Amino acid sequence: MTQPYLEHTLQQFDNKTAVIGIVGLGYVGLPLMLRYSQVGFKVIGFDIDTDKIDMLNRGESYIEHIAAADIQAACRQGFTATADFARISECTAVILCVPTPLNKYREPDISFVINTTDRVKPYLRPGQVLSLESTTYPGTTEEELLPRMQENGLCVGEDVFLVYSPEREDPGNPDFETRTIPKVIGGHTEACLQAGMALYQPAIDTVVPVSSTKAAEMTKLLENIHRAVNIGLVNEMKIVADKMGIDIHEVINAAATKPFGFVPYYPGPGIGGHCIPIDPFYLTWKAREYGVNTRFIELAGEVNSAMPDYVVQKTALALNQRQKALNGAKILVLGIAYKKNVDDMRESPSVYVMERLRDLGAEVAYSDPHVPVFPKMREHNFDLSSQPLTAENLASYDCVILTTAHDRFDYNLIARHARLLIDTRGHYREPQPHIVKA
Ligand SMILES: NC(=O)c1ccc[n+]([C@@H]2O[C@H](COP(=O)([O-])OP(=O)(O)OC[C@H]3O[C@@H](n4cnc5c(N)ncnc54)[C@H](O)[C@@H]3O)[C@@H](O)[C@H]2O)c1
Repeated sequence: MTQPYLEHTLQQFDNKTAVIGIVGLGYVGLPLMLRYSQVGFKVIGFDIDTDKIDMLNRGESYIEHIAAADIQAACRQGFTATADFARISECTAVILCVPTPLNKYREPDISFVINTTDRVKPYLRPGQVLSLESTTYPGTTEEELLPRMQENGLCVGEDVFLVYSPEREDPGNPDFETRTIPKVIGGHTEACLQAGMALYQPAIDTVVPVSSTKAAEMTKLLENIHRAVNIGLVNEMKIVADKMGIDIHEVINAAATKPFGFVPYYPGPGIGGHCIPIDPFYLTWKAREYGVNTRFIELAGEVNSAMPDYVVQKTALALNQRQKALNGAKILVLGIAYKKNVDDMRESPSVYVMERLRDLGAEVAYSDPHVPVFPKMREHNFDLSSQPLTAENLASYDCVILTTAHDRFDYNLIARHARLLIDTRGHYREPQPHIVKA
């Protein structure tokens, strides 16, 4: 059977005349936009946040690790950002990179995906590929996107093409970039998969086809659940090792010399970011529909979300040994982004530590070279700005807690001048009387 729309679409990706539409210009959408621009495609970026749109059109970046010069280069290549969804009709590919958070009952909130699809839907036309990249539970593409694409009489697999391709970005990791991270793709039909492969092949070195959109959705969840569960395990091991007087980091490093069958994970004050604390519960929710309980996921969630309390408890004990109470203590938290060398604070365990300390009466301050002012967050409120790390300043606190080990911290200065230092990252390996592992 000839597929005229498919043939034409494949050709457009091959000769780079395709216009790429990226919906949701955040941590995922922006690097993807840059990559398509770099390889010579015209990109139209869609968002509902007009401040972001204006900044991007002025050639400015609002994410620390994305250079303004790269945005400016993309603008010269024809990139524009817009809130005008009618321009979807200009695009050959429409890639959705919108948030997929949990609601207050810790259930999937796919309203962003649905709202976006509803806004895109009126402008869909034959020959287009729609790709969902947001992390979500298996079945979302088939259950939510497919019927919406079909509403105007378009035949998916003949007129338009539907794929799911999860994003695997690791912000702040200098070893990988959009091009070099292999991309998994599942199509609703064989023709959809073909269109999806043709869309991503010009931009990504390795594309990995799987048999369905559901398999691609589940692949992303397996990756992040694997991480959440193993971090939970190593956090539990940390607590046991501490009780036994064993340094968990020494143990992990020794175990990591095994050339097969062991993958090192490192403990910390909890898990953060948009992905690891959230994505596993997308599967938990969906598995219930099939009468299955996801016990590993629940247990890892329980262990990981108890870690900020563990850090606070260790801090209280260390202060107590020095005849000090947490109530009224001056405490400096080092690193409030959720992981090192980034400015992203979503779900950051440091913030939970700060909140618990404040609830117990401590006077809390923070220092983070990537977060000059504590941002407005939906659930957390601190009217604070980053403290400079000077010898005098460090020595003025009863306790300093290292929660996120940014490379830009002066670790010698911190160890020399903090009166009491709680190390949640295993940064300080040599035992010292004023350093407590937590
Ligand atoms: N941040 C990461 O490292 C990462 C890595 C892999 C996967 N993911 C997944 O990618 C998805 C996007 O995450 P992110 O970190 O880029 O989120 P983000 O919050 O940084 O960006 C999302 C963007 O979408 C915009 N938006 C919201 N609703 C919209 C709508 N209806 N129409 C158009 N734009 C809309 C927002 O204004 C925002 O600019 C999520 O599903 C996330 O789980 C994120």
